[in-house]
Amino acid sequence: MKPVISITNVFPEAAIEKLKPRGELRLNRSGAALTRDDLKKLAAESAAIVSYLSDPIDREIIEAGGNLKIVANYGAGYNNIDVASAREKGVWVTNTPGVLHETTADLTWAMILAVARQIAPADRFTRQNLFTGWRADLFLGADAHGKTLGVIGCGEIGRAVARRALGFGMKVLYCQRRRLPDAEEKRLNAEYVSLEELLRNSDYVTLHVPLTDQTRHMIGRDQLRMMKRTAYLVHAARGKVVDDRALVEALKAGEIAGAALDVYEDEPALTPGMTNLDNLLLLPHIGSATRETRDRMALLVADNVLDALSGKRPRASVW
Ligand code: DGY
Repeated sequence: MKPVISITNVFPEAAIEKLKPRGELRLNRSGAALTRDDLKKLAAESAAIVSYLSDPIDREIIEAGGNLKIVANYGAGYNNIDVASAREKGVWVTNTPGVLHETTADLTWAMILAVARQIAPADRFTRQNLFTGWRADLFLGADAHGKTLGVIGCGEIGRAVARRALGFGMKVLYCQRRRLPDAEEKRLNAEYVSLEELLRNSDYVTLHVPLTDQTRHMIGRDQLRMMKRTAYLVHAARGKVVDDRALVEALKAGEIAGAALDVYEDEPALTPGMTNLDNLLLLPHIGSATRETRDRMALLVADNVLDALSGKRPRASVW
């Protein structure tokens, strides 16, 4: 009997084809998230679960997995999975490192430039036929080139964002728990500073940390107040790293110039007040959403599953 491989939501065909010969596939092509009960049932029946970052794979679900060998998350972040419980039960947990950082860095730059130059409001204005001729004060924005970029979290994605800043002639400040090797700092022309120093001196602050107990709400009212009134916050990491209510208040009060969000504290719900703010760019968690990268991610997910089913340590195991 072939092992059951369950995929909780839509998944690229190329990866489905790769998995097909090795298992009995249970697919959910509806686009709707599975309920907790569905997930528990899947865990009980499957040898492998391919999960979305929005599927809460907690202790109860992992414990329901009699024959479960792996939870293969379709994403780099895996804060939706109780890794400690999985480890205790000998269930592999995998993610997709090394294949999405460049794409997510591209989107981060799209967000930086879009919020600084008011691209979304300018588009809305133009398509409403409000453009009646060139004006010197129409949609005045801020320069990115020559400014200071603050990168919070200089892992794969943060470094890819910092590397692009070189082309814009920007000064880069970064903070994280561990300092980068000298050679890497030089390559990125980046200076290691404290979070407070970064917030006080950056024109653009971009977040690239995972969600952990240490990073939850690392940007709240006090941190936003440290930022320059002319600065922008850009966030394509995990929603709960920022206190969204405090952000809405700071934007309303003009404490910072603007923000761009790809992720939300109560995702997919938005915090009240967000949609009324023109200095806030809102995107639907599309950091890694290119056809090429989603295929690469899915093929890596498939490799992780196949590794585990052949009794090997999966190549992108997180424990
Ligand atoms: C990830 O990989 O964690 C992203 O948020 C999904 O694009």
